[in-house]
Amino acid sequence: MIDAVARAPLLATEHLLLRELRADDARAVAVRAGDRKVARYLIAVPTPYPVSLAARWIAGRQAWWPQGRGITLGIVRRNEPDELLGSVSLRRFVRDRRAELGYWLGTDAWGRGFATEAARALIDFGFREMNLQRIYAQVLAGNAASCRVLEKLGMQNEGMRRRHIRKGKQLHDVVLYGILRDEWSA
Ligand SMILES: CC(C)(COP(=O)(O)OP(=O)(O)OC[C@H]1O[C@@H](n2cnc3c(N)ncnc32)[C@H](O)[C@@H]1OP(=O)(O)O)[C@@H](O)C(=O)NCCC(=O)NCCS
Repeated sequence: MIDAVARAPLLATEHLLLRELRADDARAVAVRAGDRKVARYLIAVPTPYPVSLAARWIAGRQAWWPQGRGITLGIVRRNEPDELLGSVSLRRFVRDRRAELGYWLGTDAWGRGFATEAARALIDFGFREMNLQRIYAQVLAGNAASCRVLEKLGMQNEGMRRRHIRKGKQLHDVVLYGILRDEWSA
């Protein structure tokens, strides 16, 4: 059922809060996701990333949860809930009971285990609360840090799709990872 007023949940992990995105996160999204080192591995993020475009991205993602299309949460430190570090998301395909995991973090938050911590919490939420049988991710070939995150999350490498996704003017190979509900619950 579609519930137009439903609020996305707040999830807490050891170091982080995963909270709803807010309109006033637009500048942080533009600066942090628009950084060349981050945007190079995201499909639709330009460098530089205009704040107006980031604001539109936020509004689009805020609509996912009330419409049952998935969830996108902002990643913040527990003691600094206003300062957005990045985001983590599940894009849901209801009929197939699966969702695609996505995430990014600003470079100043890299290397502390935050992506793994945030994604693990959202995977747990997805299997517990969103009636999913499968969660998967698609990584642009060469993104070793993201592959490592997915391996730490217990996802299996499911192979590669060659020249599968266009980013800018180029077609990229994509590495596939996935985890099934049974594997997660074990
Ligand atoms: C991918 C990303 C979210 C990782 O964030 P993070 O918080 O630094 O990740 P974590 O600290 O949880 O784990 C990163 C792991 O990758 C490893 N790693 C980092 N850079 C690496 C590299 N170049 N080659 C191999 N491993 C690497 C780290 O050592 C760590 O593994 P370890 O815990 O075994 O040491 C971050 O780099 C990012 O935002 N990248 C750009 C956007 C992106 O790629 N999004 C995902 C799209 S699929």
